[in-house]
Amino acid sequence: MANLDIPNHVAIIVDGNGRWAIERGLARSRGHEKGFRNIQKLTAYIFTKGIKYVSAYLFSTENFKRGEKEVSFLMNLLVGKQKDILTFCHDEKIKVVVSGRQENLNTKVVKAIKNIEWETRNYPDRVFNLCFNYGAHAELIDATKKIVDDVQKGKFDINTLDEEKYAKYLYQDLPPVDLLIRTGGEQRISNFMLWQCSYAEFYFAKTYFPDFEEKEFDKALSEYMRRERRFGGINDEKPNN
Ligand code: IPE
Ligand code: IPE
Ligand code: MG
Repeated sequence: MANLDIPNHVAIIVDGNGRWAIERGLARSRGHEKGFRNIQKLTAYIFTKGIKYVSAYLFSTENFKRGEKEVSFLMNLLVGKQKDILTFCHDEKIKVVVSGRQENLNTKVVKAIKNIEWETRNYPDRVFNLCFNYGAHAELIDATKKIVDDVQKGKFDINTLDEEKYAKYLYQDLPPVDLLIRTGGEQRISNFMLWQCSYAEFYFAKTYFPDFEEKEFDKALSEYMRRERRFGGINDEKPNN
């Protein structure tokens, strides 16, 4: 019988901000603002449940395809809200780690990221993994390059490479994702945490992210806890045919 414990790591594909705004006759940026406020509220709530790791997908490597105005709005959000983010993290004792490629980000954004990570480094019990200019393909390529580099430097023998060692080369050393939530009605992964979600339970909500509040999260959580996870094995308590 399925009866899962609270997940250790919840990941959220934050989607539907634009449609939330358009349906209200507002600019897409208003949806991003509302979404941003909701991330804080929801994250604080999720941590009160005893969940230790939260990953949130906020800007993908593919999101640069959007218009310049929207891209720069999203970039500036992180810079402009920096103070707000820090106050929130100190109040809630949240450590922020940022996953994604920083090479092609504006220096102001990189500075904000580094500052937020540094300022919040001493809260190891509640980790918020902010995925920004993140793509799972990019992450796997970056990991592979670092591995090749270490092998060429003689740091280890390629024949000893296993899953555990490979995982250490990802952007962050985090446990696997247990529950992946996508808001906004689409049922796809859009290049998010392909390695970490290999055995995650997926939950798709129609609600646009700005409206995805505590009650909606509770629904996702209770559905998760009713699921049965097998990881490729067979659950013992099932009748054996
Ligand atoms: C999610 O909302 C936030 C980002 C991807 C940056 P969207 O902006 O994708 O909103 P929709 O999907 O267009 O409604
Ligand atoms: C996924 O949302 C990326 C983020 C949430 C940051 P998108 O809105 O970019 O995904 P697609 O294009 O609908 O797959
Ligand atoms: Mg979208």
